[in-house]
Amino acid sequence: MNLLVIGSGGREHALAWALARDDMVERVFVAPGNAGTANESKCTNVAIPVSDFDAQIALCKREHIDLTIVGPEDPLVNGIREHFDSAELKCFAPSREAAQLEGSKAFAKDFMQRHDIPTASHLTTSHLDEAVAHIMEHGSPIVVKANGLAAGKGVVVAQTNAEAVEAATEMLSGNRFGEAGREIVIEEFLEGEEASYIVMSDGDIVLPFASSQDHKPVFDGGLGPNTGGMGAYSPAPVVDDAVETKILDEVIRPTIDGMAADGTPFQGFLYAGLMISKNKDVHVVEFNCRFGDPEAQPVLYRLRSNLSSLCYSAVNGQLSTKTIEFDDRAAVGVVVASGGYPEHYETGYTISGLDHTPAGTKTFHAGTQIQDDEILTSGGRVLCVVAADTDFVRARQQAYQGVEAIDFKDRHFRTDIGYRAIGRLQN
Ligand code: AMP
Ligand code: GLY
Repeated sequence: MNLLVIGSGGREHALAWALARDDMVERVFVAPGNAGTANESKCTNVAIPVSDFDAQIALCKREHIDLTIVGPEDPLVNGIREHFDSAELKCFAPSREAAQLEGSKAFAKDFMQRHDIPTASHLTTSHLDEAVAHIMEHGSPIVVKANGLAAGKGVVVAQTNAEAVEAATEMLSGNRFGEAGREIVIEEFLEGEEASYIVMSDGDIVLPFASSQDHKPVFDGGLGPNTGGMGAYSPAPVVDDAVETKILDEVIRPTIDGMAADGTPFQGFLYAGLMISKNKDVHVVEFNCRFGDPEAQPVLYRLRSNLSSLCYSAVNGQLSTKTIEFDDRAAVGVVVASGGYPEHYETGYTISGLDHTPAGTKTFHAGTQIQDDEILTSGGRVLCVVAADTDFVRARQQAYQGVEAIDFKDRHFRTDIGYRAIGRLQN
Protein backbone atom coordinates (compact mmCIF):
# COMPACT_ATOMS: atom_id res chain seq x y z
CA MET A 1 0.00 0.00 0.00
CA ASN A 2 1.25 3.53 -0.86
CA LEU A 3 0.18 6.45 1.28
CA LEU A 4 0.29 10.23 1.18
CA VAL A 5 0.48 12.43 4.28
CA ILE A 6 -0.41 16.10 3.79
CA GLY A 7 1.47 18.62 5.94
CA SER A 8 4.93 19.55 7.16
CA GLY A 9 4.85 19.66 10.95
CA GLY A 10 5.70 17.42 13.87
CA ARG A 11 2.26 15.81 13.72
CA GLU A 12 2.84 14.85 10.09
CA HIS A 13 6.30 13.42 10.87
CA ALA A 14 4.69 11.32 13.62
CA LEU A 15 1.89 10.18 11.28
CA ALA A 16 4.34 9.29 8.49
CA TRP A 17 6.65 7.47 10.93
CA ALA A 18 3.76 5.48 12.44
CA LEU A 19 2.36 4.61 9.00
CA ALA A 20 5.78 3.56 7.65
CA ARG A 21 6.17 1.02 10.47
CA ASP A 22 3.41 -1.14 8.98
CA ASP A 23 4.70 -4.06 6.90
CA MET A 24 1.86 -3.62 4.41
CA VAL A 25 3.02 -0.09 3.62
CA GLU A 26 5.49 0.21 0.77
CA ARG A 27 5.94 3.96 0.46
CA VAL A 28 4.78 7.03 2.34
CA PHE A 29 4.84 10.27 0.37
CA VAL A 30 4.76 13.44 2.42
CA ALA A 31 3.65 16.73 0.88
CA PRO A 32 5.54 18.87 1.55
CA GLY A 33 7.16 17.24 4.63
CA ASN A 34 10.30 18.36 6.49
CA ALA A 35 13.87 17.15 7.09
CA GLY A 36 12.57 14.49 9.48
CA THR A 37 10.20 12.91 6.97
CA ALA A 38 12.89 13.21 4.25
CA ASN A 39 15.17 10.94 6.31
CA GLU A 40 12.50 8.49 7.53
CA SER A 41 12.65 5.00 6.05
CA LYS A 42 10.09 4.37 3.25
CA CYS A 43 9.23 8.11 3.23
CA THR A 44 9.63 10.54 0.32
CA ASN A 45 8.96 14.27 0.43
CA VAL A 46 7.21 15.90 -2.50
CA ALA A 47 7.31 19.69 -2.77
CA ILE A 48 3.57 20.27 -3.08
CA PRO A 49 1.95 22.93 -0.89
CA VAL A 50 -0.75 21.84 1.54
CA SER A 51 -3.30 23.96 -0.37
CA ASP A 52 -2.60 22.56 -3.87
CA PHE A 53 -5.26 19.83 -4.11
CA ASP A 54 -4.84 19.40 -7.89
CA ALA A 55 -1.12 18.67 -7.59
CA GLN A 56 -1.78 16.26 -4.69
CA ILE A 57 -4.38 14.43 -6.77
CA ALA A 58 -2.00 14.24 -9.75
CA LEU A 59 0.67 12.79 -7.42
CA CYS A 60 -1.77 10.16 -6.12
CA LYS A 61 -2.58 9.06 -9.66
CA ARG A 62 1.05 9.02 -10.80
CA GLU A 63 2.36 7.11 -7.78
CA HIS A 64 -0.64 4.80 -7.30
CA ILE A 65 -1.35 6.12 -3.82
CA ASP A 66 -4.08 4.12 -2.09
CA LEU A 67 -4.90 6.49 0.74
CA THR A 68 -4.23 10.09 1.76
CA ILE A 69 -4.14 11.24 5.38
CA VAL A 70 -4.42 14.94 6.13
CA GLY A 71 -2.55 16.59 9.03
CA PRO A 72 -3.51 20.29 9.30
CA GLU A 73 -6.91 21.98 9.50
CA ASP A 74 -6.72 24.45 6.60
CA PRO A 75 -7.08 21.93 3.76
CA LEU A 76 -9.91 20.22 5.67
CA VAL A 77 -11.85 23.44 6.11
CA ASN A 78 -11.15 24.22 2.42
CA GLY A 79 -12.69 20.96 1.20
CA ILE A 80 -9.79 18.62 0.43
CA ARG A 81 -12.11 15.68 1.05
CA GLU A 82 -14.55 16.78 -1.66
CA HIS A 83 -11.70 17.27 -4.15
CA PHE A 84 -10.38 13.76 -3.52
CA ASP A 85 -13.90 12.29 -3.63
CA SER A 86 -14.48 13.90 -7.04
CA ALA A 87 -11.26 12.33 -8.28
CA GLU A 88 -12.37 8.98 -6.81
CA LEU A 89 -9.35 8.88 -4.53
CA LYS A 90 -9.46 7.76 -0.92
CA CYS A 91 -8.77 10.48 1.62
CA PHE A 92 -9.23 9.94 5.34
CA ALA A 93 -10.57 13.36 6.31
CA PRO A 94 -13.80 15.05 7.34
CA SER A 95 -15.85 16.83 4.69
CA ARG A 96 -15.71 20.61 4.46
CA GLU A 97 -19.03 20.81 6.29
CA ALA A 98 -17.97 18.44 9.08
CA ALA A 99 -14.69 20.39 9.44
CA GLN A 100 -16.79 23.41 10.47
CA LEU A 101 -16.60 21.91 13.96
CA GLU A 102 -13.12 23.44 13.98
CA GLY A 103 -13.42 26.04 11.23
CA SER A 104 -16.21 28.01 12.92
CA LYS A 105 -16.43 28.38 16.66
CA ALA A 106 -19.97 29.73 16.21
CA PHE A 107 -20.93 26.54 14.34
CA ALA A 108 -19.36 24.36 17.05
CA LYS A 109 -21.11 26.24 19.88
CA ASP A 110 -24.46 26.10 18.12
CA PHE A 111 -23.97 22.38 17.39
CA MET A 112 -23.10 21.62 21.03
CA GLN A 113 -26.07 23.59 22.30
CA ARG A 114 -28.47 21.74 19.98
CA HIS A 115 -27.08 18.35 20.90
CA ASP A 116 -26.73 18.94 24.63
CA ILE A 117 -22.98 18.59 24.68
CA PRO A 118 -21.49 20.27 27.77
CA THR A 119 -19.62 23.49 26.96
CA ALA A 120 -19.26 27.03 28.34
CA SER A 121 -22.31 29.28 27.91
CA HIS A 122 -21.73 31.84 25.18
CA LEU A 123 -22.87 34.61 22.88
CA THR A 124 -22.04 34.73 19.16
CA THR A 125 -22.10 38.24 17.73
CA SER A 126 -20.68 40.56 15.08
CA HIS A 127 -21.88 43.74 16.81
CA LEU A 128 -19.65 45.59 19.23
CA ASP A 129 -22.49 47.11 21.29
CA GLU A 130 -23.95 43.65 21.87
CA ALA A 131 -20.50 42.29 22.76
CA VAL A 132 -19.84 45.07 25.26
CA ALA A 133 -23.26 44.67 26.89
CA HIS A 134 -22.66 40.92 27.26
CA ILE A 135 -19.19 41.45 28.78
CA MET A 136 -20.54 44.03 31.25
CA GLU A 137 -23.45 41.80 32.23
CA HIS A 138 -21.35 38.67 32.82
CA GLY A 139 -18.07 40.22 33.96
CA SER A 140 -14.50 38.93 33.90
CA PRO A 141 -12.77 36.56 33.74
CA ILE A 142 -14.39 36.00 30.37
CA VAL A 143 -13.14 34.54 27.10
CA VAL A 144 -13.28 36.26 23.69
CA LYS A 145 -12.72 34.14 20.57
CA ALA A 146 -12.44 34.93 16.87
CA ASN A 147 -14.97 32.77 15.04
CA GLY A 148 -12.69 31.59 12.23
CA LEU A 149 -9.29 29.89 12.04
CA ALA A 150 -6.53 31.96 13.61
CA ALA A 151 -3.70 29.42 13.98
CA GLY A 152 -4.54 28.79 17.63
CA LYS A 153 -4.08 32.47 18.49
CA GLY A 154 -7.65 33.75 18.20
CA VAL A 155 -8.53 33.36 21.88
CA VAL A 156 -8.19 35.97 24.62
CA VAL A 157 -8.81 34.88 28.20
CA ALA A 158 -9.59 38.34 29.61
CA GLN A 159 -8.95 38.96 33.30
CA THR A 160 -10.74 42.33 33.28
CA ASN A 161 -13.80 43.72 31.52
CA ALA A 162 -11.60 46.33 29.84
CA GLU A 163 -9.34 43.65 28.40
CA ALA A 164 -12.36 41.75 27.06
CA VAL A 165 -13.83 44.88 25.47
CA GLU A 166 -10.47 45.69 23.89
CA ALA A 167 -10.18 42.18 22.44
CA ALA A 168 -13.74 42.29 21.09
CA THR A 169 -13.15 45.73 19.59
CA GLU A 170 -9.94 44.69 17.85
CA MET A 171 -11.39 41.43 16.55
CA LEU A 172 -14.62 42.95 15.24
CA SER A 173 -12.77 45.78 13.51
CA GLY A 174 -10.89 43.13 11.51
CA ASN A 175 -7.55 44.51 12.73
CA ARG A 176 -6.50 41.47 14.68
CA PHE A 177 -7.47 38.36 12.74
CA GLY A 178 -8.94 39.78 9.53
CA GLU A 179 -12.14 38.11 8.41
CA ALA A 180 -11.74 35.32 11.02
CA GLY A 181 -12.54 37.91 13.72
CA ARG A 182 -15.51 39.69 12.10
CA GLU A 183 -17.73 37.44 14.17
CA ILE A 184 -16.76 36.55 17.73
CA VAL A 185 -17.80 34.12 20.42
CA ILE A 186 -17.80 35.40 24.01
CA GLU A 187 -17.65 32.58 26.47
CA GLU A 188 -17.97 31.87 30.15
CA PHE A 189 -14.57 31.22 31.75
CA LEU A 190 -14.20 27.55 32.71
CA GLU A 191 -12.04 26.50 35.62
CA GLY A 192 -10.19 23.23 35.83
CA GLU A 193 -7.46 21.24 34.13
CA GLU A 194 -7.32 20.87 30.37
CA ALA A 195 -6.89 17.59 28.53
CA SER A 196 -7.01 16.51 24.92
CA TYR A 197 -8.99 13.51 23.80
CA ILE A 198 -8.60 12.28 20.25
CA VAL A 199 -10.65 9.63 18.50
CA MET A 200 -10.89 8.23 15.02
CA SER A 201 -14.33 7.81 13.46
CA ASP A 202 -15.64 6.33 10.24
CA GLY A 203 -18.73 8.52 10.58
CA ASP A 204 -20.43 6.11 12.99
CA ILE A 205 -18.05 3.90 14.95
CA VAL A 206 -15.56 5.54 17.31
CA LEU A 207 -12.08 4.26 18.18
CA PRO A 208 -10.61 6.25 21.06
CA PHE A 209 -6.95 7.15 20.85
CA ALA A 210 -5.17 7.81 24.13
CA SER A 211 -5.74 10.90 26.28
CA SER A 212 -3.05 13.56 26.32
CA GLN A 213 -2.23 17.00 27.63
CA ASP A 214 -0.73 19.92 25.75
CA HIS A 215 1.14 23.00 27.07
CA LYS A 216 0.05 26.01 25.05
CA PRO A 217 1.79 29.02 26.65
CA VAL A 218 5.35 29.60 25.48
CA PHE A 219 7.03 29.93 28.91
CA ASP A 220 7.34 27.79 32.05
CA GLY A 221 4.47 27.97 34.50
CA GLY A 222 1.99 28.70 31.71
CA LEU A 223 3.26 32.25 31.16
CA GLY A 224 3.51 34.21 27.93
CA PRO A 225 1.48 34.06 24.73
CA ASN A 226 -0.20 30.90 23.50
CA THR A 227 1.58 28.78 20.90
CA GLY A 228 0.54 25.77 18.87
CA GLY A 229 1.83 23.70 21.82
CA MET A 230 5.23 23.49 23.55
CA GLY A 231 5.02 19.87 24.65
CA ALA A 232 2.58 17.10 25.42
CA TYR A 233 2.33 13.81 27.18
CA SER A 234 0.08 10.79 27.03
CA PRO A 235 -1.85 9.46 28.86
CA ALA A 236 -3.11 12.45 30.91
CA PRO A 237 -3.57 11.32 34.53
CA VAL A 238 -6.49 13.79 34.93
CA VAL A 239 -8.42 11.53 32.53
CA ASP A 240 -9.04 8.59 34.85
CA ASP A 241 -11.49 5.82 33.93
CA ALA A 242 -14.53 7.70 35.24
CA VAL A 243 -13.59 10.87 33.35
CA GLU A 244 -12.89 8.88 30.19
CA THR A 245 -16.34 7.29 30.36
CA LYS A 246 -17.86 10.76 30.73
CA ILE A 247 -15.89 12.09 27.77
CA LEU A 248 -17.08 9.23 25.59
CA ASP A 249 -20.72 9.29 26.76
CA GLU A 250 -21.27 13.04 27.08
CA VAL A 251 -19.01 14.44 24.38
CA ILE A 252 -17.67 12.05 21.76
CA ARG A 253 -20.69 9.79 21.17
CA PRO A 254 -23.21 12.67 21.02
CA THR A 255 -20.89 14.57 18.65
CA ILE A 256 -20.51 11.71 16.18
CA ASP A 257 -24.24 10.90 16.44
CA GLY A 258 -25.21 14.58 16.17
CA MET A 259 -23.09 15.15 13.08
CA ALA A 260 -24.62 12.08 11.44
CA ALA A 261 -28.15 13.18 12.41
CA ASP A 262 -27.47 16.65 10.96
CA GLY A 263 -26.51 15.07 7.63
CA THR A 264 -22.81 15.89 7.97
CA PRO A 265 -21.27 12.66 9.28
CA PHE A 266 -17.82 13.15 10.76
CA GLN A 267 -15.18 10.86 9.32
CA GLY A 268 -11.63 11.53 10.42
CA PHE A 269 -9.71 12.31 13.57
CA LEU A 270 -11.84 14.23 16.06
CA TYR A 271 -9.98 16.12 18.76
CA ALA A 272 -11.88 17.38 21.79
CA GLY A 273 -10.09 20.01 23.88
CA LEU A 274 -11.67 19.59 27.31
CA MET A 275 -11.78 21.30 30.67
CA ILE A 276 -12.05 18.86 33.58
CA SER A 277 -13.33 20.55 36.74
CA LYS A 278 -12.35 19.68 40.31
CA ASN A 279 -15.47 17.55 40.71
CA LYS A 280 -14.70 15.90 37.37
CA ASP A 281 -17.30 17.61 35.21
CA VAL A 282 -16.26 17.67 31.57
CA HIS A 283 -16.79 20.66 29.25
CA VAL A 284 -15.68 21.11 25.66
CA VAL A 285 -13.30 24.05 25.16
CA GLU A 286 -12.85 23.43 21.44
CA PHE A 287 -13.12 20.82 18.75
CA ASN A 288 -10.44 20.19 16.17
CA CYS A 289 -11.13 18.11 13.09
CA ARG A 290 -7.64 16.58 12.98
CA PHE A 291 -4.94 15.13 15.17
CA GLY A 292 -3.33 17.51 17.67
CA ASP A 293 0.19 18.84 17.31
CA PRO A 294 2.20 18.13 19.50
CA GLU A 295 -0.25 15.56 20.98
CA ALA A 296 0.27 13.32 17.93
CA GLN A 297 3.94 12.83 18.78
CA PRO A 298 3.54 11.14 22.22
CA VAL A 299 0.18 9.53 21.35
CA LEU A 300 1.37 7.92 18.11
CA TYR A 301 4.63 6.94 19.81
CA ARG A 302 2.48 4.79 22.11
CA LEU A 303 0.27 3.34 19.37
CA ARG A 304 0.73 -0.42 18.99
CA SER A 305 -1.94 -1.02 16.36
CA ASN A 306 -1.45 -0.74 12.63
CA LEU A 307 -2.30 2.88 11.79
CA SER A 308 -2.59 2.44 8.02
CA SER A 309 -5.06 -0.40 8.47
CA LEU A 310 -7.11 1.67 10.95
CA CYS A 311 -7.25 4.63 8.54
CA TYR A 312 -8.09 2.35 5.62
CA SER A 313 -10.95 0.71 7.53
CA ALA A 314 -12.22 4.10 8.69
CA VAL A 315 -12.33 5.58 5.20
CA ASN A 316 -14.29 2.51 4.08
CA GLY A 317 -16.77 2.81 6.96
CA GLN A 318 -15.52 -0.44 8.51
CA LEU A 319 -14.12 0.54 11.89
CA SER A 320 -16.48 -1.87 13.66
CA THR A 321 -14.07 -4.68 12.79
CA LYS A 322 -11.15 -2.90 14.48
CA THR A 323 -9.68 -2.58 17.95
CA ILE A 324 -6.88 -0.31 19.07
CA GLU A 325 -3.96 -0.96 21.37
CA PHE A 326 -1.53 1.34 23.12
CA ASP A 327 1.77 0.86 24.89
CA ASP A 328 1.09 1.14 28.65
CA ARG A 329 4.12 3.33 29.14
CA ALA A 330 3.77 7.08 29.51
CA ALA A 331 5.19 9.13 26.65
CA VAL A 332 6.45 12.70 27.04
CA GLY A 333 7.21 15.03 24.13
CA VAL A 334 9.15 18.28 24.57
CA VAL A 335 9.07 20.84 21.78
CA VAL A 336 12.25 22.73 20.90
CA ALA A 337 11.29 26.04 19.30
CA SER A 338 13.02 29.01 17.70
CA GLY A 339 13.73 31.82 20.17
CA GLY A 340 11.03 34.50 19.81
CA TYR A 341 8.27 32.07 18.68
CA PRO A 342 5.25 32.56 18.59
CA GLU A 343 6.12 36.13 17.69
CA HIS A 344 9.12 37.14 15.59
CA TYR A 345 11.89 34.56 15.17
CA GLU A 346 14.80 33.86 12.82
CA THR A 347 15.30 30.67 10.81
CA GLY A 348 18.11 29.09 8.83
CA TYR A 349 20.22 28.03 11.82
CA THR A 350 22.18 24.76 11.72
CA ILE A 351 20.84 22.09 14.08
CA SER A 352 23.52 19.97 15.77
CA GLY A 353 23.37 16.95 18.03
CA LEU A 354 20.46 15.15 16.36
CA ASP A 355 22.56 11.94 16.40
CA HIS A 356 23.39 12.28 20.09
CA THR A 357 19.95 11.88 21.64
CA PRO A 358 19.61 8.88 24.02
CA ALA A 359 18.67 5.50 22.55
CA GLY A 360 14.93 4.94 22.82
CA THR A 361 14.02 8.59 22.31
CA LYS A 362 12.48 9.69 19.02
CA THR A 363 12.98 13.17 17.60
CA PHE A 364 10.09 14.30 15.44
CA HIS A 365 10.86 17.23 13.17
CA ALA A 366 8.58 20.21 12.51
CA GLY A 367 10.21 23.42 11.20
CA THR A 368 13.32 21.85 9.65
CA GLN A 369 14.75 21.63 6.16
CA ILE A 370 17.77 20.07 4.49
CA GLN A 371 20.25 22.29 2.72
CA ASP A 372 23.64 21.04 1.45
CA ASP A 373 23.48 17.98 3.71
CA GLU A 374 22.82 20.14 6.76
CA ILE A 375 19.59 20.27 8.74
CA LEU A 376 18.49 23.85 9.31
CA THR A 377 15.67 25.46 11.30
CA SER A 378 12.81 26.69 9.12
CA GLY A 379 9.91 27.39 11.47
CA GLY A 380 8.72 28.36 14.94
CA ARG A 381 8.38 24.92 16.39
CA VAL A 382 11.46 23.04 15.23
CA LEU A 383 11.55 19.60 16.89
CA CYS A 384 9.73 17.48 19.44
CA VAL A 385 11.74 14.91 21.39
CA VAL A 386 9.65 12.01 22.71
CA ALA A 387 10.58 9.34 25.27
CA ALA A 388 8.49 6.66 26.99
CA ASP A 389 8.84 4.77 30.24
CA THR A 390 6.67 2.91 32.75
CA ASP A 391 7.72 5.70 35.12
CA PHE A 392 6.52 9.16 34.04
CA VAL A 393 9.44 10.93 35.72
CA ARG A 394 11.97 8.77 33.87
CA ALA A 395 10.19 9.32 30.55
CA ARG A 396 10.39 13.04 31.12
CA GLN A 397 14.06 12.91 32.14
CA GLN A 398 14.92 11.01 28.98
CA ALA A 399 13.01 13.41 26.76
CA TYR A 400 14.93 16.30 28.34
CA GLN A 401 18.26 14.47 27.89
CA GLY A 402 17.35 14.32 24.21
CA VAL A 403 16.51 18.03 24.15
CA GLU A 404 19.80 18.90 25.87
CA ALA A 405 21.77 16.93 23.27
CA ILE A 406 20.36 19.10 20.46
CA ASP A 407 21.48 22.64 19.80
CA PHE A 408 20.83 25.55 17.47
CA LYS A 409 21.12 29.30 17.86
CA ASP A 410 18.49 30.86 20.17
CA ARG A 411 16.65 27.57 20.74
CA HIS A 412 13.89 27.73 23.34
CA PHE A 413 12.00 25.05 25.23
CA ARG A 414 9.89 24.84 28.35
CA THR A 415 11.59 23.06 31.24
CA ASP A 416 8.34 22.06 32.96
CA ILE A 417 6.53 19.81 30.47
CA GLY A 418 4.47 17.32 32.47
CA TYR A 419 4.45 19.24 35.77
CA ARG A 420 0.73 18.68 36.28
CA ALA A 421 1.06 14.94 35.72
CA ILE A 422 3.95 14.78 38.18
CA GLY A 423 1.88 16.73 40.73
CA ARG A 424 -0.99 14.30 40.33
CA LEU A 425 1.18 11.19 40.43
CA GLN A 426 2.91 12.41 43.61
CA ASN A 427 -0.42 12.92 45.38
P1 AMP B 1 -9.02 27.31 22.01
O1 AMP B 1 -8.24 27.79 20.82
O2 AMP B 1 -10.50 27.49 21.90
O3 AMP B 1 -8.61 25.93 22.43
O4 AMP B 1 -8.53 28.20 23.24
C1 AMP B 1 -7.16 28.34 23.55
C2 AMP B 1 -6.96 28.22 25.03
O5 AMP B 1 -7.71 29.23 25.72
C3 AMP B 1 -7.49 26.92 25.60
O6 AMP B 1 -6.58 25.90 25.48
C4 AMP B 1 -7.76 27.32 27.05
O7 AMP B 1 -6.56 27.30 27.80
C5 AMP B 1 -8.22 28.73 26.93
N1 AMP B 1 -9.69 28.77 26.90
C6 AMP B 1 -10.48 28.74 25.81
N2 AMP B 1 -11.78 28.79 26.16
C7 AMP B 1 -11.82 28.83 27.50
C8 AMP B 1 -12.87 28.91 28.48
N3 AMP B 1 -14.16 28.97 28.12
N4 AMP B 1 -12.52 28.94 29.77
C9 AMP B 1 -11.22 28.91 30.15
N5 AMP B 1 -10.19 28.86 29.29
C10 AMP B 1 -10.47 28.82 27.98
N1 GLY C 1 -2.00 21.21 20.34
C1 GLY C 1 -3.21 21.84 20.05
C2 GLY C 1 -3.69 21.64 18.70
O1 GLY C 1 -3.21 20.82 17.95
O2 GLY C 1 -4.63 22.34 18.32
